[in-house]
Amino acid sequence: MKIAIAGKGGVGKTTLSGVMARYLAEEGYTVLAIDADPDANLASALGFPPELIEGLTPLAAMTPLVEERTGAVKGTFGGVFKLNPKVADIPDTYSVDHHGVKLLILGNIPQAEGGCFCPENVLLKGLLHHILVGRKEIVIIDMEAGLEHLTRGSTKHVDAFIIVVEPGQRSIATAHQILRLAQDLGVQRVYGVGNKVNSPEDRTLITEGLSAISFLGHLSFNQKVIEADKRGMSPYDLNGTLKKEVQGIIKRLQQLQGEALD
Ligand SMILES: Nc1ncnc2c1ncn2[C@@H]1O[C@H](COP(=O)(O)OP(=O)(O)OP(=O)(O)O)[C@@H](O)[C@H]1O
Ligand SMILES: [Mg+2]
Repeated sequence: MKIAIAGKGGVGKTTLSGVMARYLAEEGYTVLAIDADPDANLASALGFPPELIEGLTPLAAMTPLVEERTGAVKGTFGGVFKLNPKVADIPDTYSVDHHGVKLLILGNIPQAEGGCFCPENVLLKGLLHHILVGRKEIVIIDMEAGLEHLTRGSTKHVDAFIIVVEPGQRSIATAHQILRLAQDLGVQRVYGVGNKVNSPEDRTLITEGLSAISFLGHLSFNQKVIEADKRGMSPYDLNGTLKKEVQGIIKRLQQLQGEALD
């Protein structure tokens, strides 16, 4: 199963990605977590120790790799490069394993007006396409808001596109924009997850604000999640409630998909 997680900035995408990945790994699944946010911090939410995080390099910043695979030489803007670089070995070679979760950090793509047609972009898009189409394990992608890495060709392989929403009109409005963007890209199954929910009223605010999509469940507002973030720990390791809530979300996802996760 391939799961992409999107939503407004700060809504809890990384928290949900991290906790889902950890839960599924603990359940015995093989999990590949992809940090597709330029401001990468999924490693910390997964509980990677700081020494390990320090040593992580995002793929887009691995200049020799980008050059080797695309044939492009950095700094030579407008040069010729391969549009179909070899990527199949990258997930196993460049991911880092901890607590049974393999993590791959995509990194920052240089921004250019009208979208970037640059080697890093071609490599990462090709890689993500390969991961969605060709990999057999559970894949969880912590997306950035613009869905920059997704292409029409790869989106049909996303089994569950989860939009995280917090109780508030701004996050609901962004969720609507993301929903439209996802639909334009041909994403089939879009679901919602409420986060930082304090009350039944919060749940209603979220589900009624986004009545077009099915909700998999909600995560409560939880002081322990903030504490984990402050301590650079995974919220999964600090909180039993969160674990139960994520378990419910995954069960609901299985029911809606009508199939096993792998
Ligand atoms: N259920 C929760 N209860 C309390 N705080 C939470 C909860 N979920 C997330 N947070 C806090 O909200 C902040 C943002 O969470 P997180 O980094 O997961 O969001 P994000 O959507 O990935 O953000 P960004 O857009 O910056 O990548 C963090 O400080 C996190 O600890
Ligand atoms: Mg994040």
